[in-house]
Amino acid sequence: MLLAFETSCDETSAAVVHQGRVLSNVVSSQIALHAEYGGIVPELAAREHLRNLMPVTRAALHEAAVAADRIEAVAATQGPGLPSALMVGLKAAEAMAFVLQRPFFGIHHHEAHLYSPWISGSPPVADFSGFQPNISLIVSGGHTMLVYVEAELKHRLLGSTVDDAAGECFDKVGKLLGLAYPAGPEIDRLAEQGNPKAFDFPRPMMNDPHDDFSFSGLKTSVRYFLRDHPSLLDQRKTVQDLCASVQAAIVDVLVVKTTRAARRMRVNCVTASGGVTCNRALRNQLAAACEKNGLTLRLAEKSLCTDNAAMIGILAERKSNAAWGPTPLNADVQPGWDLGCSAEQP
Ligand code: KG4
Ligand code: ZN
Repeated sequence: MLLAFETSCDETSAAVVHQGRVLSNVVSSQIALHAEYGGIVPELAAREHLRNLMPVTRAALHEAAVAADRIEAVAATQGPGLPSALMVGLKAAEAMAFVLQRPFFGIHHHEAHLYSPWISGSPPVADFSGFQPNISLIVSGGHTMLVYVEAELKHRLLGSTVDDAAGECFDKVGKLLGLAYPAGPEIDRLAEQGNPKAFDFPRPMMNDPHDDFSFSGLKTSVRYFLRDHPSLLDQRKTVQDLCASVQAAIVDVLVVKTTRAARRMRVNCVTASGGVTCNRALRNQLAAACEKNGLTLRLAEKSLCTDNAAMIGILAERKSNAAWGPTPLNADVQPGWDLGCSAEQP
């Protein structure tokens, strides 16, 4: 029985997992709080985590019908993320591990994302029986990366964004279109009625041979386009076309680069997670591209795409089962923790 915390950004989450089963996964989102400012305010996020962590943890224990003294290990996101936000979950987990005299596992947030597509069902269960080497796309508001997952707990970062993340691009373009933060879900909805070929926006780095991404040029080109054609914002139909066209540009880049990395690395499987993986066009086009290329696709379930403690707990449990040593209780947060290569198994 393992209790996990996730407080790296704007979701306060606590989960109880046991032998691959997610007994509870309580997530309190701060979206409404930060929407007022058009983006995440780190200090507010940390204070909100402080306020929410105990009620969220109580709810997670209650939902799992587990008393705190039955917890056998504690885990928390150690990085990367907002320093003051990470600190709340990490220090709470360390204190709990200290009091209960249980091992503590500091988990890399993106490493946890790598395995979230293998958790599914209701209640959710992690099933690695069909695991195969894969290319994993992690795509959120803060990150866009391609990772080669060679084996369980063994990975290598292939490429990441050199400027804006894909979700950030959705959000910034949404702001230009007058949409509320975070704009990704609204662009997804508006794009459904729009023509993705109405406007031709750039697909940065799509045909470059490396695995890095860049989305700030796309955002800038939308800005200049709207400066020159402001009347496009007056009609719902043209706003829908703009949403569909920008979404098509982002999705094309993600799909082309992901499938190309899979072919190059000679894997038969692609996985995807992170908030932007909720995007329906991305889910559909990745599915179509994978089918065309003979690749198996595992998309994280929508409820597990965004940040959650279940994925932190599942990875911590697997590490514990694989005899990875616990993290010292005086470990500090690692806000800029590089995903890089996984450490060798002990
Ligand atoms: O993983 P996440 O909850 O938080 C981090 O950034 O870590 O991802 C949030 C991002 C936001 O940029 C949001 O606009 C985007 O995911 N997003 C979407 C959709 N749902 C969330 N982007 C496009 N389409 C969606 N349906
Ligand atoms: Zn995340």
